[in-house]
Amino acid sequence: MKYLNEILGTEFPVIQGGMANIATGSFAADCSNAGAFGLIGVGGMDAAGLREEIKKCREKTDKPFGVNIMLMNPDVDNLAKTVVDEGIKVVTTGAGNPGKYMDAWKAAGITVIPVVAAPILAKHLEDCGADAVIAEGTESGGHVGEMTTMTLVPQVCDTVKIPVIAAGGIADRRQFNAAMALGAVGVQVGTCLLGSRECPIHENYKQAIIKAKGSDTIVTGRSVNAPVRILKNKMARAYVKEEKRGAGRDELEKFTLGSLRKAVFEGDTDNGSLMAGQTCGQVTEIRSLREIFEEICAEYRKG
Ligand SMILES: Cc1cc2nc3c(=O)[nH]c(=O)nc-3n(C[C@H](O)[C@H](O)[C@H](O)COP(=O)(O)O)c2cc1C
Repeated sequence: MKYLNEILGTEFPVIQGGMANIATGSFAADCSNAGAFGLIGVGGMDAAGLREEIKKCREKTDKPFGVNIMLMNPDVDNLAKTVVDEGIKVVTTGAGNPGKYMDAWKAAGITVIPVVAAPILAKHLEDCGADAVIAEGTESGGHVGEMTTMTLVPQVCDTVKIPVIAAGGIADRRQFNAAMALGAVGVQVGTCLLGSRECPIHENYKQAIIKAKGSDTIVTGRSVNAPVRILKNKMARAYVKEEKRGAGRDELEKFTLGSLRKAVFEGDTDNGSLMAGQTCGQVTEIRSLREIFEEICAEYRKG
């Protein structure tokens, strides 16, 4: 089976995970220029916003890049059409089942790579025509499932014939090597990039990641079926207290509404949602994207 860099035409077998409000066209281009596969994360953008980011990305790089579509986005039908109109070659999807868009994307020659958190969804999407899957363990930042990367990746590999990319809990060569030993053809990373010089998050958010230990994250929203891993802070503690009291989805939403934006743009580390995975404990200094990708693939390149 081909490695991820052969599939995507990159130097390293590494995808920069789509991150809402963070993975702009400019950041995706920086990641592609540094040797990985950059993704524009649509998050809550509308179609016009996505077109703008694609333009900025193309202005900054001539290397391959793709788009990550968050399936919970209310404008998702238009976004799905926009990637076709814009001639995007690779689409990854998060937070759901992209089956509805698969035929149109395949007809346009798009390589479709959904993120999955369980082997059964991987099998279903393979049957729908997915070209590969990203098996993302619960160690990761942002929206998470229940299975760990260690248990999920081999079980997805046993379930599907298409290539499997590992995500969740990968930030250095040891974890990269482990992911490849589990059967992955490459990896997707998110948290370790929050500590990169090029990452466009507020300095307060960056410093919070650098200070955090691996045990400083918590999953909010399990009780309302919307689990998200974030750094423990004032907002996270208040949220969890309300969850324990039995608060419903509407009540809990008042904590999370616009909270990622508060963290990313305003640097509000008390009330913002500082999405981060457990590898935050390995992010101890600001480095360039190139240094991060070189470290992750250090032994792969030697081999
Ligand atoms: C701040 C942040 C925001 C994220 N937003 C998204 C998103 O919008 N769509 C998505 O598919 N995944 C999202 N993710 C998950 C990443 O794409 C990636 O799969 C994950 O970060 C990999 O695990 P790691 O955090 O342990 O490196 C996000 C992750 C982080 C840390």
